[in-house]
Amino acid sequence: MGTVLGAANKEANGSALEKKPTVVFVLGGPGSGKGTQCANIVEHFGYTHLSAGDLLRAEIKSGSENGTMIQNMIKEGKIVPSEVTIKLLQKAIQESGNDKFLIDGFPRNEENRAAFENVTKIEPKFVLFFDCPEEEMERRLLSRNQGREDDNIETIRKRFKVFLESSLPVVEHYETKEKVRKIDAAKTVEEVFEAVKAIFALENDKVTPPVSSSSIL
Ligand code: ADP
Ligand code: C5P
Ligand code: MG
Repeated sequence: MGTVLGAANKEANGSALEKKPTVVFVLGGPGSGKGTQCANIVEHFGYTHLSAGDLLRAEIKSGSENGTMIQNMIKEGKIVPSEVTIKLLQKAIQESGNDKFLIDGFPRNEENRAAFENVTKIEPKFVLFFDCPEEEMERRLLSRNQGREDDNIETIRKRFKVFLESSLPVVEHYETKEKVRKIDAAKTVEEVFEAVKAIFALENDKVTPPVSSSSIL
């Protein structure tokens, strides 16, 4: 116990092997198309899509005691403390019944990354990085029309600054580990998805050895 999945993590044959879920981090600036492409990946590759931003917005709606704090942070484009976001991700993972996750918009800073690693002991299989120029992301956000309180030019500028200062270093961290699969996200939705499919096809061909617990070593 104490792992992200606890008892549900045990293999069906009752062996002491503990299989961790497969996690792909989906990163990129605000408006780079993470949510749009995750929906396509879910349909084709059987992953469950967990958007950290969506989970935080749902938490506000649920009337949770953290709701006001989260709402204020989102309005300012700031990053919510990792403890809150990781709890929401863990709950969603546990409730999903799946073992393959696209974690979208997380980790957003070094604190997010280190805390997730410490708490879950999960390393991403790879990091999908949507690379898109700011002018294009700005255009997309201003015409997104989902009624989001942070899709206004003032908050958008703040989010771009946070992305450059806090989120890009996370991508650079994974670059040193050769985990980043970078995609030109300025193209059409269809063209971007072609590039995404090629990456998943390649990665699916790679064999990942199971993680064994110390009790059988
Ligand atoms: P993110 O989750 O990275 O913030 P979204 O997937 O919500 O981005 O996309 C932001 C907006 O841009 C949405 O209105 C979406 O329909 C649109 N969009 C997404 N991908 C593209 C693309 N490749 N070309 C043009 N518009 C796009
Ligand atoms: O990814 P998305 O654009 O939906 O995120 C919206 C906002 O949610 C971010 O600007 C930030 O305020 C908050 N967020 C966060 N921590 C994350 C992801 C999102 O605080 N890991
Ligand atoms: Mg999104």
